[in-house]
Amino acid sequence: MFDQIENIKKELDAFTSDVNDEIERFRINLLGKKGKITNLFLLFRDVHPSDKKEFGKQLNNLKASAQEKITTLKSQCIKSTTKTTQDLTIPGQPLNIGSRHPITIIRDRIINIFSQIGFSVSKGPEIEDDWHNFSALNFPKEHPARDMQDTFFINKNMSLRTHTSSVQVRVMEKTKPPIRTISPGRVYRNEAISSRAHCFFHQVEGLYIDENVSFADMKQTLLYFTRAMFGENTEIRLRPSYFPFTEPSAELDVSCSICKSKGCSVCKYSGWLEIMGCGMVDPKVLDNCGLDPKRFSGYAFGMGIERIAQLIYEVNDLRLYSENDFRFLKQFTSER
Ligand code: PHE
Repeated sequence: MFDQIENIKKELDAFTSDVNDEIERFRINLLGKKGKITNLFLLFRDVHPSDKKEFGKQLNNLKASAQEKITTLKSQCIKSTTKTTQDLTIPGQPLNIGSRHPITIIRDRIINIFSQIGFSVSKGPEIEDDWHNFSALNFPKEHPARDMQDTFFINKNMSLRTHTSSVQVRVMEKTKPPIRTISPGRVYRNEAISSRAHCFFHQVEGLYIDENVSFADMKQTLLYFTRAMFGENTEIRLRPSYFPFTEPSAELDVSCSICKSKGCSVCKYSGWLEIMGCGMVDPKVLDNCGLDPKRFSGYAFGMGIERIAQLIYEVNDLRLYSENDFRFLKQFTSER
């Protein structure tokens, strides 16, 4: 019987495996209900009384070392299986690369074009006082643009700016001419939201003040801009218009880049698309901002970024720009 203990010991020493099922089968073979070691315990009562003590000791030792070995093998086996399931050669989860918003892309293009001819970028607050948004710009007290229908008033004196001309007032108050600056930014108007209007949109307005600035200077600068933006063959036309802060005032149309002026639904079969307002800064505005109108003259212009983006990307619903629909946004990349 001591031989049997010896044999099992050898078997135990010889066994090794890193496969869980194999180790479990080995455990059942030795320590299970009908296992070899369990059976030896059953034979205990047949052992000669003088050997009982020694036999019991050896058998208990055998059981303990079998249990220990099986536990060790099983824990190594857990480690090795976790190792083998981690395949370090599998490529990582791809990260979605974001795209830039179309308004940002167009805004940056406009800024780039004007920076190349020496215009700086100015910024101002979106919550503006009456002076900077209206009064300094020569809006008469009863002018309809001040009306509750167009302007989001915060109190009698403060509102959300309705245009970034307010930034130009701030620049004129602080800076001595020559002034060459553009002011990009978000503006707010109390309009019902539809495919053609929104309660907020984005503008880039420009201001040029120096001695002897003429309407021809403005026309040439805006021709340069529209050709850089819409292509070398773009033509412009200026139509007389009215703004309280410019005199004379005009609206600028570009030849329709979509139908090449042949007539389409976007240009309403006229061949022309209106893209901005412009004009010579009214001498009263210069005076309001502390500049001598006898010495200085200048021009100003303002355009909506959404409108330019709409023409370049042929997007016909303004709401798409602010709804954050991923299917819409992911079509735009920074290259365009
Ligand atoms: N401020 C005008 C607007 O918001 C645009 C404009 C700017 C017109 C400068 C003329 C000169 O519509």
